[in-house]
Amino acid sequence: MMRQSPIGVFDSGIGGLTVVKELLRVLPREDLVYFGDTARVPYGTKSKATIVKFSLENVEFLLQHNVKLIIIACNTSSAWALATLKKYFKVPVLGVIRPGAKGAIELTRSRRVGIIGTPSTIRSRAYETELRQLGRGVRVFTQSCPLFVPLVEEGWEEEAVCLAVARRYLQPLLRQRIDTLILGCTHYPLLARVIQRVVGPRVRLVDSARRVALEARDLLEREELLRTAANGVARRRFIVTDEPERFQRLGERFLGHRITNVSKCASPMMAVTA
Ligand code: DGL
Repeated sequence: MMRQSPIGVFDSGIGGLTVVKELLRVLPREDLVYFGDTARVPYGTKSKATIVKFSLENVEFLLQHNVKLIIIACNTSSAWALATLKKYFKVPVLGVIRPGAKGAIELTRSRRVGIIGTPSTIRSRAYETELRQLGRGVRVFTQSCPLFVPLVEEGWEEEAVCLAVARRYLQPLLRQRIDTLILGCTHYPLLARVIQRVVGPRVRLVDSARRVALEARDLLEREELLRTAANGVARRRFIVTDEPERFQRLGERFLGHRITNVSKCASPMMAVTA
């Protein structure tokens, strides 16, 4: 029965769709329920306690959809809440931090790694912790980039203002002679071009989305939870806590194709207790 259950994915809003994009490529047969907490976004400026509370509620909500795996498609939530979610729930939970850190360790030659993310992700030091566990002698340099999320949501990735902001944020990391840069926020893959332009071709960018999707496939395979083929077309549902039209409109840029089937629920807490 569980084989046919959907994968549950949650994010603070629309950014997690960059992870869904890769999930659709790697696991095209799987049903998916995406939960975007658009009423309470952003998480990236909030405290650990708040992020953990929201994340617990988001998982409770997804469990009502009988999901077989939870993917935290949000760096901020992965950074602060993964350990708690693993402790509280029996369902397997994957976050995006470790896959991103693994990617950086594979790519770096000089062992000088940069990390960019929301203020809260950077404050958590979650990437540093993983990098230090995975590779000896890695030097880590961090920079929070709070203006990147609104620039992407505004659709200004190709505007001069975006280039100027990217230069301002990334220059200090370049001075540290990093050779690898982790895009530690779900919105940043949309800025990959401008970021690469600023850091130059010698700095390798790491986006954890594909790696998370591959880990999800491995896990489902291992647990014998991969959906079997015979059951027709995969279903994808998108549920948000506010502004479904905006989610649909902006989300198509993140996902790279059309989104249908968006609905609005009340806050996840109300959905849980209703
Ligand atoms: N999804 C968040 C992340 O990856 C960015 C948006 C937010 O601040 O909520 O950290």
